[in-house]
Order: sequence, then C-alpha cells, then structure tokens
Amino acid sequence: MKPITRRTALTMGGLGVAGTVVGGAGLLWTSQGGPGRAAGPAGNPADGLATGDALRQPAELRSVDGVLELRLDAAAATARIGGRTATTLGYNGGLPGPTLRLRAGDRLRVSLHNGLNEPTNLHTHGLHVSPEGNADNPFVMIEPGDSFDYDYRLPADHPPGLYWYHPHHHGVVADQVFGGLYGAILIDDPDPVEVARERLLIISDLTLDGSGRVASAGRAERMAGREGELVLVNGQLNPALGIRPGERERWRIVNACVSRYLRLRLDGQTLQLLGLDSGRFEAPRDVEELLLAPGNRADLLVTAAEGTAVLRALPYDRGRMGGMMGGPARSTATGSLATVAVSGDAVAAASAVPRRPAARDLRGGPVTARRELTLAMGMGGGMGGGMGFTINGETFDGGRVDTTVQAGSVEEWLLTNTSPMDHPFHLHVWPMQLVETNGRPADSAAWQDVVNLPARGSARVRIAFEDFAGRTVYHCHILDHEDLGMMGVVEARGALTAPE
Ligand code: C2O
Ligand code: CU
Ligand code: CU
Repeated sequence: MKPITRRTALTMGGLGVAGTVVGGAGLLWTSQGGPGRAAGPAGNPADGLATGDALRQPAELRSVDGVLELRLDAAAATARIGGRTATTLGYNGGLPGPTLRLRAGDRLRVSLHNGLNEPTNLHTHGLHVSPEGNADNPFVMIEPGDSFDYDYRLPADHPPGLYWYHPHHHGVVADQVFGGLYGAILIDDPDPVEVARERLLIISDLTLDGSGRVASAGRAERMAGREGELVLVNGQLNPALGIRPGERERWRIVNACVSRYLRLRLDGQTLQLLGLDSGRFEAPRDVEELLLAPGNRADLLVTAAEGTAVLRALPYDRGRMGGMMGGPARSTATGSLATVAVSGDAVAAASAVPRRPAARDLRGGPVTARRELTLAMGMGGGMGGGMGFTINGETFDGGRVDTTVQAGSVEEWLLTNTSPMDHPFHLHVWPMQLVETNGRPADSAAWQDVVNLPARGSARVRIAFEDFAGRTVYHCHILDHEDLGMMGVVEARGALTAPE
C-alpha cells in the first residue's frame, strides 16, 4: 500500500490547530480516549495516522406492529470530532441522526420540530411513497420553533435497501446537510444474507473553523459544490473496525456529502456489491472500487482477509467550472476513512448468497412518452445575473410545474449535461432505470435514484410513474447546485390503476 504523504494527510484531515504533527510520520489524529476504543492495532502503520475510536452505530429505531413513530428535533448539536469539540447541527443531538428501521408495508410517522433559526423540512430520499400532503412533500416549510407531523405509508412491495433522510428546504439544503442533518432509513431485506454483522457507514464531509463551528461556503465554493476538509464516517474521523479473518460483513454505505464524489477502495479485502440505491441485484457483483455520487448508497459485502486495511476514497475528477470562475472541481483523495483490523481466529466461509429474482426491466417495453431534460451552467440565467444553474433553461420555481406526466405511465428521459462539470441527477419518489450513459448501454437492469451525468455527457433512463400521483422534484444532488436553482418540478396526474 502506498504510504500517504504528509501533504495529503493535511489536505484530507484538515485538522489545523487540533492536529499534532508527529516527527516526520504525519498527522496524529488525536482521539481523547473516550468509550469504546477499538481492540486491535492502535495505529495505522501504513499512513502514520492513529486510528480513532471504534466505529459507532447511530441509535436504531425499529417499527413495531407495522408502525414507527418518533419525534425528530433538528437543532444545533455538539459533537466530538477527532478530539475537538465541534458545534454542528443534528437530529436528536446525533451526528448522524437515528437510523429508522422499517419493513415494506409499514407506516412511518415523524413529528419534526424545527429548533434551527431558519426554515427546514424533511425528505425521505429514495423512498417510494406519496409526494403529497404530509408524506414526502418537499414543498412543506416548517418555520423556526414550529413542528410538522409527517406520515409515510410504504407500499407492501417496497424494495428493501438503504435510504436516508435529510432537509429539503430550497436555498438552505446544502448548508443544513453539511451542518450535520442526515440519517439512515433501512428497509429490511426479506431474503437475509448470512453475515457476521451488519454495519452502517454514513459518509459525510465537513469543514470546521478555528472555533469549532461549521464553516460557511462562499459563492465560488457553492458554484463548484463545496467539499469539506474532514470526511467522516458516522460523524467520526478514521474510526476503527475489528473483524476476524473469513468473516463476512454487510456494509450499508451512504454518500451524504453535499458535493463530494466517493471513489471508495478497501484494498486487500474481498468486496461484493449487493445493490446500489434501492433493491438488490440478482446476484452479488465482485468489485474493487465503488463510485458513489452524492446521494447514492451501496449495499456491500466485505469478506475479511488477515491484515490491516484502509477504507479510502481516491481522487475523482468531476470536471471544472466554465467561464470566468475557472477552477477544477475535484473530489480529493481522503486517506483513511476507516481502518479495518482483521485478526484473531479464522472462521469458516459464510454460505453462498441466495439469488434474488431479476429486477424488473423496462428496456424493450413500451414507453408512453419520451422527453429531454438539459442541465446547464450558463451566464445570466440566474438571479442577479450570475452563473445560472438550470434545467431546460430555467432555475427552480416551486410555483411552476416543469414536467407533467401521466400517473401510471412509463417514460424515457434523455438527460443531457452541457456543462463542463458532472451533475448527479436525482428524482424523488420514483426510481429510475438506467438505460445508457454517454450512449453506452447499461449491462443490466440497474435501478437508481441518483444517476451521474458526466461533464458534457448524457444518460438515458426509464421511469415508471406508478403507485402515486402528485407533485415533487428532480434536481442535481450536488446540493449547492440544487440550492442555486438546478431543480425542476414534476407532477404525475390522473387516476391511478389498481389501488392497494
Ligand atoms: Cu437527497 Cu431531493 O434529495
Ligand atoms: Cu431525494
Ligand atoms: Cu450539479
């Protein structure tokens, strides 16, 4: 494994005043003891970074008799990050918020209390639920001090998988997610895979100023899409995981970063991808590297081999801003996101992963309509004559419906990106089946709710607008771009067939 240079460590750690330089070895991530320090090797010889505390799991709330009811407080929070006290935002004081564990067919009731000093609301990213009323309605606005009762009903055939929740009040989404407002939603898998344990890894990024407050982003950073100096897993810097050789674990990974693409590697270990975003593949796929755009989730099997492995993200070039602002928009390398120590007695191999029925495939079937959406960055499109972030030439207006579709229909959308930067395209409520990227056909029926549009490239997707009618949004999931206006409104109209 290539040793990390001190410069890279500084870039990725960004600890500034809190970091302690140890000889020539690099940064020591000071972890002030604290409960649950990991067993196993204390440091990471590969890159000279001390391993942090044992990876924590957020509190998990499970549905009982088909219902999960909870109160969620969005407010300022205090966190210990890499030995520093940080003032962030959080749901119920946590970074991340509690994990909501549900089954298909369940009802989720969330009483959201706004303890922030600006409006907020709640979005259940990836869930196939109604976009109307007090369900997954992105137009709800909750003023500071107010609360709102959400009520979501999952269809009985809702795909299993990892989803997540975060605020969605246009204009402040990036600030609030960057500040720490995110949590996971797990829909149980009806066909469990034999594993030693499951872990949730919510990867987020954050920049703290000298006083431990979340740094604000300037105009140029927002246009490029801000990337935090600290990259955290479950709110922790370089947490430690202990596994025994031969053990198989199931990792559910969320890219909760505002703009950072994660090109993840865990060299020396065997990785198999079970699914991306919603649902599961027919059979696991061997992978060496995993690219998660902002908003994407991975369902990953890790089979452990003796030794110490480092979960890291490699650099990803997501293009550059055009025009006068110029600069590159690069997701930098992270160094160690987490350190995995594999030691102890070897265990016997886990049983084979049961096959799943093949995913529904819309390719080759009929489509009701075809349309084209063009994502662009141009001068003069936005307010104040700055760089405009547009879809089909328009910046977001919640009072306008940009795309009207027939409820129950299947559409094909050609998503074109004319800008010199990647944009991860996200649609609420209805997952998209990826048909092709840059003209290259997808090799299987892949269902995603975030599809990357390469710089000066395109993707073609098919969408079944089934089960729900109503108005919701699609947008770039570089949340700064969404706040800058790269979002549109879609409305599914008409009677739905076959009520449940
Ligand atoms: Cu994860 Cu509309 O967002
Ligand atoms: Cu979403
Ligand atoms: Cu974008």
